[in-house]
Amino acid sequence: MKSILVTGGAGFVGSHTCKALAAAGYCPVTFDNLSQGHESAVQWGPLEIGDILDHDRLGDVFAAHDPEAVIHFAGSAYVGESVIDPGKYYRNNVTGSLTLIETMLKAGVNRLVFSSSCATYGIPDTLPILETCEQKPINPYGYSKLVVERIMRDFGRSHSLQSIALRYFNAAGSDPDGDIGEDHDPETHLIPLTLDAASGGTPLTIFGDDYDTPDGTCIRDYIHVTDLAEAHVRALNAIDDHDGFEVFNLGTSLGHSILEVIDMVNTVTGLKVCYETGARRPGDPASLVADPSKAQNQLQWRPRLSGLEDIIRTAWSWRQSVQDTES
Ligand code: UFG
Repeated sequence: MKSILVTGGAGFVGSHTCKALAAAGYCPVTFDNLSQGHESAVQWGPLEIGDILDHDRLGDVFAAHDPEAVIHFAGSAYVGESVIDPGKYYRNNVTGSLTLIETMLKAGVNRLVFSSSCATYGIPDTLPILETCEQKPINPYGYSKLVVERIMRDFGRSHSLQSIALRYFNAAGSDPDGDIGEDHDPETHLIPLTLDAASGGTPLTIFGDDYDTPDGTCIRDYIHVTDLAEAHVRALNAIDDHDGFEVFNLGTSLGHSILEVIDMVNTVTGLKVCYETGARRPGDPASLVADPSKAQNQLQWRPRLSGLEDIIRTAWSWRQSVQDTES
């Protein structure tokens, strides 16, 4: 069985991708420092505990497993924190990715799929966003992802690195079989916080209702994590179809406002989300919606579970199962 090294494989998108890799006949080897990820999410292959900044440890893991490619998720991913502590983001995301790329090339591995972000676009001039739109990130997190894309492109020219960057829009939902789910600490994402507010937890604060959108709240393109996972397998299988660096948006082309998310949570749970309206969150674009046609055409990728109802239904099932286990 072919091994694939999955950095950050114990995290949210990483663990769902390990499940998809195993279903496609690969052996996912998770490399994770468990600072954010969960050992319990590593269910489809071995776990190697280590940090991408540690090239000796990485080198040992390449030697032990002889992977044929790397899917790279490990990194820091809180936009707000990146503004307060940019050094952490440039170190973990940029230096960490550079260390990984140099180590993999030294080990003779030259295929890489990278978890990038729509945060590299900043505030877009036009919607939906195409891969060719200008990238002008507005926070260190987005810059760190953009720099890694640039490193990948440059190493494609200098060292024959074959790489694909996948620019996710808003990853959400949970494994429909209930094996794994979203479990961030701290949790900052809209859908888990809205589910929490529906079940009697902290009321949701809507960050601004005076945006230039139909109902005044921000619009995002929510994409189910299982659909994201499948796109990684497709990207891996297509990695030799081009020379050097390629990039794909992963979204649905449909945006939903925060009030639409709240309405759907009310419908799916049968409960009532308690919310209030607060100030805008700095750095939030009004609307982010993908044009995913390149991934559809070149990877034959189609989101299957990314209707808002499916996203919220699977996230809600996961949340209830975790609560049942805890109680
Ligand atoms: N929101 C609230 N209240 C909350 C949390 C979020 O109103 O308590 C709003 C946000 O302001 C935003 C929307 O809900 O308008 C979605 O927010 P999330 O935090 O769930 O997601 P983001 O759109 O901020 O972040 C996502 C990814 C990031 C990526 C970013 C790019 O999670 O990794 O998109 O903008 F960088």
